[in-house]
Amino acid sequence: MIPQKLLLLVTSLSLASATTIPRGVSPEDAKLYAASAETFTCLTHPTIQIPLSRVNDDFCDCPDGSDEPGTSACANLPHKNLSIPGFYCANIGHMPAFLPVSRVNDGVCDYDICCDGSDEWAGVGGVKCPSRCAEIGKAARKMAAEKHAARSKAAKSREELVRKAAVLKRELQDGVAATKTQIAANKVKVAGLKKKLAETEEMERRRAVRNPKPGSRVAVLTSAAKEKSEELRALLKKLREQRDLAEEKLHRTEAILRKFKEEYNPNFNDEGVKSADRDMNAVMEEEVDWEEIAGPEPEEAAKFYQLTQYLPSTAQEWLSTKITEARELLVSNGILAPQKTEGFESAAVAAARDALTAAEREDRDSVNSLADLEKSLTTDFGPSDVFRALKGVCITRQFGEYDYELCFMEKATQKSRKDNGRQNLGSFAAIEMVDETSRNEAAGVFASSWEENHDEPLSGMVLKHDNGAQCWNGPKRSVAVELYCCAENEIRNVVEMEKCVYRMEVGTPAACKEQEAKNQERAKDEL
Ligand SMILES: *[C@@H]1O[C@H](CO)[C@@H](O)[C@H](O)[C@H]1NC(C)=O
Repeated sequence: MIPQKLLLLVTSLSLASATTIPRGVSPEDAKLYAASAETFTCLTHPTIQIPLSRVNDDFCDCPDGSDEPGTSACANLPHKNLSIPGFYCANIGHMPAFLPVSRVNDGVCDYDICCDGSDEWAGVGGVKCPSRCAEIGKAARKMAAEKHAARSKAAKSREELVRKAAVLKRELQDGVAATKTQIAANKVKVAGLKKKLAETEEMERRRAVRNPKPGSRVAVLTSAAKEKSEELRALLKKLREQRDLAEEKLHRTEAILRKFKEEYNPNFNDEGVKSADRDMNAVMEEEVDWEEIAGPEPEEAAKFYQLTQYLPSTAQEWLSTKITEARELLVSNGILAPQKTEGFESAAVAAARDALTAAEREDRDSVNSLADLEKSLTTDFGPSDVFRALKGVCITRQFGEYDYELCFMEKATQKSRKDNGRQNLGSFAAIEMVDETSRNEAAGVFASSWEENHDEPLSGMVLKHDNGAQCWNGPKRSVAVELYCCAENEIRNVVEMEKCVYRMEVGTPAACKEQEAKNQERAKDEL
């Protein structure tokens, strides 16, 4: 073993060779100390020159500490005055690092930074710091690999979400286009069915003039009367036949009687019988005007039709359409009651009206669904539209006596484990990007309360939720959901900042940086 003092001396002497680096200096900074001259110039104070032998001689000569990179001699200088990054630990087997010079030779192995133990080279107080870089390096590499894996998993998950969001958006756009086409078709269909209804009504009206509508009151009465008359007519016919038969018999009897010179019976030429006979004849010969019995249709259009029937049929159609339009205008302005002939609608008119009502309802539904689709399409779902893919995905976690639930882009809920009571903590309102200061402040809030830390910093992306359940003697509940990048969706922490104002810390791949996706886009652009 070479005594430490001697080692220091050897090191100092070997500086002259310019191939040996002074203790505590990194290979990158070696050139600053490899002066071929006999003197060392303080790095940021070129006017101060010292003999090379005074570098690392455990006495602070330079006001910037540059002459003592390997000792703690300049540790008392204010940090900002130092021109060196600290004591360089090579940490072979792990990663090189700089230790604050105040911790050099302080009798404590600073393995957290100098895993090779080189900081305690003087063995102050007999301290021995064998290198632990092999094990520490291995553990660190394992952790770094895990972190890298977690990050790429998170980045992949985010890409997946972005892809899904793009598909959803395309579907929405297709939906909007299809619905617009549907609406245009519906408008044509409604117009067609309106015309059809008007035509059907008009046709029914015309028919009503010539033939009472089957089933209408007039028709029922008329057909009943007609039936009764037919019965009567048949009865009369039968009676007359019988009378004729009787008369013939009588004539024959008369002839027989006359033949037998019997007395004339005046009853057979009775005036009453004669008049009855005339009545019978009248009834038999009468042509009944059934249209007169049915009575004229009290409809304007019917009267009009009677006038227009002398016009050519094309002119009739035109006039009829005009009248229907005029009527519709009056009806829609509340001047005329909607037409419903005798409170009864024929099957054809009812069918036409039902078809129109159905088409109008379909049209309204399409218009409403178009509004919904367009609203969703214009909603801000964050960078790359990524939160569109998370909409409606819910995560929960228990904190104390409560279960907290967050349904992305929808709402946050607090559920009591004691009484199962649910409190709406607020509905999603907006995505906000906060500045560094608010982010650090938020991180501080969680740092003072969190149960477990997470590797990634807060992203600065905040999902604002408001308009939750009214608080007794307070505001409506609201939650600010602070997001950090994570491979999984998870609730990490919940804090009630002030009465009914909550803060939630949530991990999601959607909050990961967009860098990778952007790079891919750039690569695509360059192709
Ligand atoms: C640190 O540097 C400032 C100027 O940059 C100087 O005024 C001050 O005296 C220095 N402090 C010491 C302890 O050398």
